[in-house]
Amino acid sequence: MKKRILSGVQPSGHPHLGNYLGAMRRHIEMQEEYECFLFIADLHALTTVKDPELMRSQTHELAVAYLALGLDPKKTVFFKQSDISEHAELCWIFDCLVTVPFLERAHAWKDAKNKGMKEPTMGLFNYPVLQAADILLYKPDLVPVGKDQKQHIEMTRDIATTFNNLFGETFKLPEPEIKEEVAVVPGTDGQKMSKSYGNTIDIFAQEKELKKQVMGIITDSTPVEDPKTPEECTVFKLYKLLATPEETEELAERYKQGGLGYGDAKKLLLEKILSHFEQAREKYENLMGKRNFVTQVLEEGSKKAKSIAISTLDEVKGKTGYK
Ligand code: ADP
Ligand code: TRP
Repeated sequence: MKKRILSGVQPSGHPHLGNYLGAMRRHIEMQEEYECFLFIADLHALTTVKDPELMRSQTHELAVAYLALGLDPKKTVFFKQSDISEHAELCWIFDCLVTVPFLERAHAWKDAKNKGMKEPTMGLFNYPVLQAADILLYKPDLVPVGKDQKQHIEMTRDIATTFNNLFGETFKLPEPEIKEEVAVVPGTDGQKMSKSYGNTIDIFAQEKELKKQVMGIITDSTPVEDPKTPEECTVFKLYKLLATPEETEELAERYKQGGLGYGDAKKLLLEKILSHFEQAREKYENLMGKRNFVTQVLEEGSKKAKSIAISTLDEVKGKTGYK
């Protein structure tokens, strides 16, 4: 039997290279080998997106991005989290098992507090519990995510164990699937690429904007003629993630020899990005206007997901005494 994988992505901004290399690409590759579930985590996105038009447009944009990058709805059950009310229901049941000190250990929560957020919402605090419900409803074997999500998967395993100990063996403990080489894709300022740091390279941005982002990558001030250390340069690190080993080796040599300016390296990176995503970018343009088609794809996915979610929740209701 094929192993089952599940993952979710928030519709919280434009998809960027970090999302693609750290998560989206894996999700799409894995559909050939596994039984795949992928959802748009729009309930989670409400922790940051409070504008209904933005929620709609970003959800559409993310769905289109996945389809353009090659997600095949016949192979992957692709759906919207908010269509399946069982996520929120199971979340409540878990809420009654999880303690406040347990949730206070979450990195994302600690970060929010350290950044001086005065009145963080319950949604932000509870974020890992909803994520545990998302995952456990479908009993997956693997959860492919970027490294920043590791703790959330560990918390999911803890929550599953707590439930199993209290009510009997119900949930299988999922494993995170994290690719070390793309665990942390750097952004234009050298720190982790993230929508929240404003340092992204957006794979479906208009060419002019994409160029601006690539040209804005921060480099050191080594003069053009001097030799440079490829491994210390964000431009090279990003190039390496998209290029073949031979192309990477060639660029590394040019860095070490000197005579290559960072501006030239950036141009090579921009060309690489444009050629790598050429087909996907065309498909994206084409699908953006097809709202009905995209809605229909997600609705069909929701139907398949719903039947599994109902069956797990029924089992949980039986075990907890609601049935
Ligand atoms: P962001 O940090 O931009 O808000 P998300 O938290 O929405 O991104 O992440 C969506 C997925 O992309 C997650 O699985 C996450 O681990 C992965 N991801 C995001 N940024 C990176 C990055 N810089 N490197 C590797 N993976 C990333
Ligand atoms: N927290 C994840 C992120 O920010 C999104 C997410 C929500 C998720 N539910 C999930 C990922 C379940 C994997 C499995 O990227």
